[in-house]
Amino acid sequence: MMELLGSIGCYCRNPLRTIWLWISLVLVLQYSKTGLSDSTYLIGLGSYDITGPAADVNMMGYANTEQIASGIHFRLRARSFIVAEPQGKRVVFVNLDACMASQLVTIKVLERLKARYGDLYTEQNVAISGIHTHAGPGGYLQYVVYLVTSLGFVRQSFDVLVDGIEKSIVQAHENLRPGSIFVNKGELLDAGVNRSPSAYLNNPASQRSKYKYDVDKEMTLLKFVDDQWGPVGSFNWFATHGTSMSRTNSLISGDNKGAAARFMEDWFEQNGTKSSDINELGTDGIPRRVSNIIPHIHANHHELLELAASFQSSPGRPATRILSVARRVRGALRQADKPGFVSAFCQTNCGDVSPNVLGAFCIDTGLPCDFNHSTCGGKNELCYGRGPGYPDEFESTRIIGERQFRKAVDLFDKASEKLKGKVDYRHTYLDFSQLEVTLPKKGGGSEVVKTCPAAMGFAFAAGTTDGPGAFDFKQGDDKGNPFWRLVRNLLKTPDKKQVDCQHPKPILLDTGEMNRPYDWAPSILPIQILRIGQLVILSVPGEFTTMSGRRLRDAVKTVLTSSGKGEFGSNIHVVIAGLTNTYSQYVTTLDEYQVQRYEGASTLYGPHTLSAYIQEFQKLASALIKGQPVESGPQPPDLMNKQISLLTPVVMDSTPAGINFGDVSSDVPANSTFKRGSTVTVVFWSACPRNDLMTEGTFALVEILQGKDTWLPTYDDDDFCLRFKWSRPSKLSPRSQATIEWTIPPFASPGVYRIRHFGAAKGLMGSIRHFTGSSSAFVVVA
Ligand SMILES: *[C@@H]1O[C@H](CO)[C@@H](O)[C@H](O)[C@H]1NC(C)=O
Ligand SMILES: *[C@@H]1O[C@H](CO)[C@@H](O)[C@H](O)[C@H]1NC(C)=O
Ligand SMILES: *[C@@H]1O[C@H](CO)[C@@H](O)[C@H](O)[C@H]1NC(C)=O
Repeated sequence: MMELLGSIGCYCRNPLRTIWLWISLVLVLQYSKTGLSDSTYLIGLGSYDITGPAADVNMMGYANTEQIASGIHFRLRARSFIVAEPQGKRVVFVNLDACMASQLVTIKVLERLKARYGDLYTEQNVAISGIHTHAGPGGYLQYVVYLVTSLGFVRQSFDVLVDGIEKSIVQAHENLRPGSIFVNKGELLDAGVNRSPSAYLNNPASQRSKYKYDVDKEMTLLKFVDDQWGPVGSFNWFATHGTSMSRTNSLISGDNKGAAARFMEDWFEQNGTKSSDINELGTDGIPRRVSNIIPHIHANHHELLELAASFQSSPGRPATRILSVARRVRGALRQADKPGFVSAFCQTNCGDVSPNVLGAFCIDTGLPCDFNHSTCGGKNELCYGRGPGYPDEFESTRIIGERQFRKAVDLFDKASEKLKGKVDYRHTYLDFSQLEVTLPKKGGGSEVVKTCPAAMGFAFAAGTTDGPGAFDFKQGDDKGNPFWRLVRNLLKTPDKKQVDCQHPKPILLDTGEMNRPYDWAPSILPIQILRIGQLVILSVPGEFTTMSGRRLRDAVKTVLTSSGKGEFGSNIHVVIAGLTNTYSQYVTTLDEYQVQRYEGASTLYGPHTLSAYIQEFQKLASALIKGQPVESGPQPPDLMNKQISLLTPVVMDSTPAGINFGDVSSDVPANSTFKRGSTVTVVFWSACPRNDLMTEGTFALVEILQGKDTWLPTYDDDDFCLRFKWSRPSKLSPRSQATIEWTIPPFASPGVYRIRHFGAAKGLMGSIRHFTGSSSAFVVVA
């Protein structure tokens, strides 16, 4: 009951909601006594903008020093659900449009939750998981290896995550109301392929023969239904890498999973009730957006042109930040009396799964790469995976996103199995540098093996077919970036014990034994089980390969179903939440480890890493089923005060004489008409987007004219059809420009449109001033 009181505390500002909550609680409590309850749980969902700095910051994932953010494809979000038993425990799951979770972010979020809610939300029952987009700003992790290409720690990347996660959980908490959860599963065949099939083939044939495919094709979806409001959201887990966008992309993007989430939320907000409605979206997957809410315009082409001619580009002028937030499009689509629909596409055992489903080819010859080594004439730099939209990476992102979205809608519509039973959790920290693992021995008996301090193998430097040739991590390399120059002399040569322990991995970087200027790699990792009725989520701090994930799920399932109490029966759904709570790279099977491809080389704690996970998860599962506590384990370090940051701040912004921020530098042609499907491009004088991330706002906006002089927002920088690209003529120049490209969707209403830009400029004394400007009006015809 203490937990319930805690949640009610936050309703006091809104007396009506307080009363409603009390009434529903009383009803729930009464029903649960008589067993008539329709709603099993209290459920709440939330979502908040976490789009980081869209300039100057290295993107996390490919470890490509040259992949620096310079604009936005679409925005990133933190999406959360909370499920509570009315009189019992609760769990929180947060899905981040980020490459992975970060230990430091998790620590700081938990501190904030403690300050707000006391012991309601702790490391025990909160899971924070990354979707593995490789198109989000980096610099938010705490260990050296993950900070090399970002020039160290990036405060702005970090803060926007901590703030956004906190706000999305607060929203979910304040939305907690009686409701039900349904689970559904189904196969999605064309959204992932194995990118290291030669390693997969090294698993025993007897084990491989149990599975039809060399990657997991199953999507598991939860549908959240509020007793009063109806469906309020969905979360699903499906394995495929966030590498539809390439290592040379510079626009912030949620990649295929972020895209799927955007499509599904838009689909629901504007009509989604039946999967047949999807066809209303057209084959391009882009929702109709506001075309539904704009009254049809009765005017012929000539009249539209006349109208457009009366709106010349408006010069840049000062603005308030409020303006960019208020003009956002999505708010207008929502029903005021209920929270927005939240749909998350979560990551699972994607370790060896690529969304580049056409296969890997040599860019010089066009032939498939070498099967065993993913090389072309012996060189890994030439081998690239191709997505279904090849050679257009945006198209590949859209297609893989749309495939996941359509599958999710299908599962959502048909979901009928209700989650029932306890909400519970177990969590522990383990020192993975020295875990003892007991393994059965061939021919009987058992043997004890050990994990090792973290180390990365040579194949790590070769990268993958999704992003070959990662990291400029060569010993004695005197080029590299300033951060690398700072830390490279601290490299350690591994001793014999470590070499033997990691065998057959040839060690490139002995990261687990390097701690200057601070720890290079984690050794203490969290593992966690969240349970909601017959659904069990395994939070793992890394990227499990397909077969690793299968073995872990099976092992946990066996513990849960073979327990005497029979509480789970045989109907149990086990999903792995990948890249959760912290990050420690890959986990392969012992057999895959022998092959030492990228994933094996990145399995940090040696050949028995997976066995250690399985052993420890079995212990957690056993404690869960027996209702026993587990030890909390050694705390991971908080390295906040040791972080080094070499990224230069924005010095100042300026424009040429006689030009204002927000002035149009390249307008649409006078009196122009565009057909649907064509692209409108406008360039504005701008300032560095790092001055204000425009959180829950927008840098770019398309507006349509209503009547004689009212402009309605129709697309913003969270839309797939609108790209915000930022550039400066040279690295040190204070001048910059924003190029806004709008590809007119095939269903856009005919009418008079204009494009606007919002930004914030930094003065010489450091003050931040917001500005806006607008293109001339133009006509769009069918
Ligand atoms: C949305 O759904 C409603 C109710 O089912 C229907 O009347 C309306 O035509 C739909 N609108 C669009 C644009 O599909
Ligand atoms: C644009 O159209 C307006 C009104 O029809 C006309 O007055 C003007 O001359 C046109 N400008 C150009 C450059 O064609
Ligand atoms: C890959 O390596 C295996 C094991 O060395 C070998 O048997 C196989 O022929 C190789 N495959 C190709 C296509 O080179």
